[in-house]
Amino acid sequence: MTPPPSIAKSAPAPAVVRAALDAQPRIALAHLPTPLEPMTIDGREIFIKRDDCTGFALGGNKSRKLEHTMADAMARGATVLLTASGLQSNHVRQCAAAAARCGLGFHAVVAPALDRMPRAHAESGNVLIDSIYGAVLHVVDDEADADAGMARVAAELRAAGETPYIVPLGASDGIGSLGYARAAFELLDQCRAMGRELGHVVVPTGSGGTHGGMLAGLRGAGSAATCWGISVSEPAAAKIAKVRASIDGVEAVLGLGPLGIGPEDIRVDDRHTGGGYAQPSAAANAWLLRLARETGLLLDPVYTAKAFAGLATLAAEGCFTGDGAVVFLHTGGTPALFADPAGLVDPRGLSPSLARLDGRLV
Ligand SMILES: Cc1ncc(COP(=O)(O)O)c(C=O)c1O
Repeated sequence: MTPPPSIAKSAPAPAVVRAALDAQPRIALAHLPTPLEPMTIDGREIFIKRDDCTGFALGGNKSRKLEHTMADAMARGATVLLTASGLQSNHVRQCAAAAARCGLGFHAVVAPALDRMPRAHAESGNVLIDSIYGAVLHVVDDEADADAGMARVAAELRAAGETPYIVPLGASDGIGSLGYARAAFELLDQCRAMGRELGHVVVPTGSGGTHGGMLAGLRGAGSAATCWGISVSEPAAAKIAKVRASIDGVEAVLGLGPLGIGPEDIRVDDRHTGGGYAQPSAAANAWLLRLARETGLLLDPVYTAKAFAGLATLAAEGCFTGDGAVVFLHTGGTPALFADPAGLVDPRGLSPSLARLDGRLV
């Protein structure tokens, strides 16, 4: 018989969760801990957790996830890594680098809609770096064809004697999400060292593993900090399901039972998706330019600028209650800045810094 919630088994002790996380197989890729950088924006203190500075392959959130994913791939005797995503994917870039580091081949199925994108999108940014790593990219016209595409590439690789390891979307399964459960402990240690409580963490929510892993880690560490996910693409309900799957996955891998995360604990704000995945949001791009010009911090248009616009809205609405530190998780993605340069400056696509001395445009 299922026990009533009031007498449900209590969550495991933080020390037990930390030990279980530390015991998970991992191949070191990221430069850790990443800095926790204080900033004052509109008179409010915000700490930026600089996971854009994870170092590996130009940094970003996938470095932490792939430490666990690659350990699993190697334990399973993989010879090739295979994944799927959009053409300008940070995930694909970091997977390509992780495969190179571990001596594996790398293939990705990418859904580009090439006819609708600027030339730089197909040649620069993450795509350029993918090709430097020797990635083999297989193009499909529609995202819906990605899974079938991966199955086909996997079958071809097996027929050629390879052992492919399929990295799920965004490496957001239980294994990859462990990286963000560990990140939560790292962040709490940094807050403790500053003599501060952690009050709120704001993260971009895409495939859900960063958000889910962070929340699992926070609760596993005994922290009551609120984790606010800002959807970068879909309605909140779709993202909440992804975050839940990531948490369930982490709990399954750790094998310590539930970490005590109820539905009310998974918060996703879907007011900043712009036109959808990788489609611009005017408010987000305004924050991208403002932070660059006022603080020197570079965001990216697809994830972190939307998340920062979300943070600004939550701040204006008075959501950051209490005196605990407010942390923005900068998950990287800056190579995408090079993929659509015209989208960020004026409609002519030219930066004012390219005007001639006499004011004429170059
Ligand atoms: C820069 C960046 N930030 C955030 C995310 C979203 O993370 P997740 O997919 O774990 O939700 C991604 C995913 O690709 C990303 O590349």
